[in-house]
Amino acid sequence: MEYHISNRMKNMKPSIIREILKQMSDPTLISFAGGNPAADTFPAADIAAFSEELLRTQPAAVLQYSVSEGVPSVRDAVRAFANRNGTVAREGDEVLMVSGSQQILDFTAKCLCNEGDVVAVEDPAFLGAYNAFRSNGARLVGVPLEADGVDLAALESVFAAPEKPRFFYCIPNFQNPTGRTMSAAKRRAVYELGVKYGVPILEDDPYGELRIAGEPVPPIKSLDTEGVVIYAGSFSKILSPGMRLAYCVCEKGLASRFVVAKQCADVHSNVWAQRVCEAMLTRTDMDAHIRDICALYRQKARRMMEALDAQCPEIEYIAPQGGMFLWAALPEGVDMPEFVRRCLAQKLALVPGNVFAVDEEKPCQSFRMNFSTPSPEQISQGVGIIARVLREMRA
Ligand SMILES: Cc1ncc(COP(=O)(O)O)c(C=O)c1O
Repeated sequence: MEYHISNRMKNMKPSIIREILKQMSDPTLISFAGGNPAADTFPAADIAAFSEELLRTQPAAVLQYSVSEGVPSVRDAVRAFANRNGTVAREGDEVLMVSGSQQILDFTAKCLCNEGDVVAVEDPAFLGAYNAFRSNGARLVGVPLEADGVDLAALESVFAAPEKPRFFYCIPNFQNPTGRTMSAAKRRAVYELGVKYGVPILEDDPYGELRIAGEPVPPIKSLDTEGVVIYAGSFSKILSPGMRLAYCVCEKGLASRFVVAKQCADVHSNVWAQRVCEAMLTRTDMDAHIRDICALYRQKARRMMEALDAQCPEIEYIAPQGGMFLWAALPEGVDMPEFVRRCLAQKLALVPGNVFAVDEEKPCQSFRMNFSTPSPEQISQGVGIIARVLREMRA
């Protein structure tokens, strides 16, 4: 049967990173391409124990349908967790449980955009967000980044344009793919621009807990007295991405729209996973667990940076203060896509930087390296391949 594909989905391409990952059955291939948390950070024993207890003592509550907003006791636990170092969720805000923060990216565009509406996005940024917005009919306008976050003058001119964006998408902490962190001053300025022009800010923060250097910077949402910020937090990087559990903090009126979107999408997020998450938040020392993850990622990031400094000083990179990624740039004159191809031929997978740009065709010298998944030995071997390919290409 020849299916008639909708205009909305017809031009959508599968995520190149997921495609690269599909080819990873070769055990000799080293991947710096994914964005997975290190599997040894999953609190599997606690998850197993809480699951067993919940299924034994309250099977009906865990296996039955539930409310779309999320289980009330889980939402309370998540609100307390989100507010433990300062207020993210205010009294007038709702906390909703969603199936991964990817779902709130989709819902935001679904609820705020009509076909052809403009959405302002950090450029480069997370491809999954761009795809979610585009699949809901949005036209993306990229706003470039500076060392301390988005270029404010460019952002203001996009906000002030006749076609005002329906929202602005940003990742203030350890941005994917660049690893950059938005300064406190810029967060305030972005918030004030959002209020001034009436443009909602979608603050995507899946990596915020994974700080490996420097001092924490409060989320934009913590400044939000006007209800313009939609905050997306996720348990993917601190518990397990397979649980597909994240949360959204936003103003009540918009939250009620998201609830209707949720009823259309999947009715509610997995109740078992929600209740396990609640137990993790209320009955274990999450801060100690997060400290352990950060210690591991700090060590891996250092190993990657030290290897690059020693073996390929001509590659410039942004030293991340957290997260999972290192954004590196090749010297002028070295063809980046060819470099990535040659690394893959030598069994190292990288992600070419252009795929994170609004305009993929724009020349790009950067590529993204993930340091959370590979082992320390693989990090050293992988950087060895990078150094070798670079030498070959410059010979
Ligand atoms: C910036 C960013 N936002 C959102 C997501 C989606 O995460 P989740 O597993 O919570 O859906 C990712 C996944 O890697 C990401 O990098």
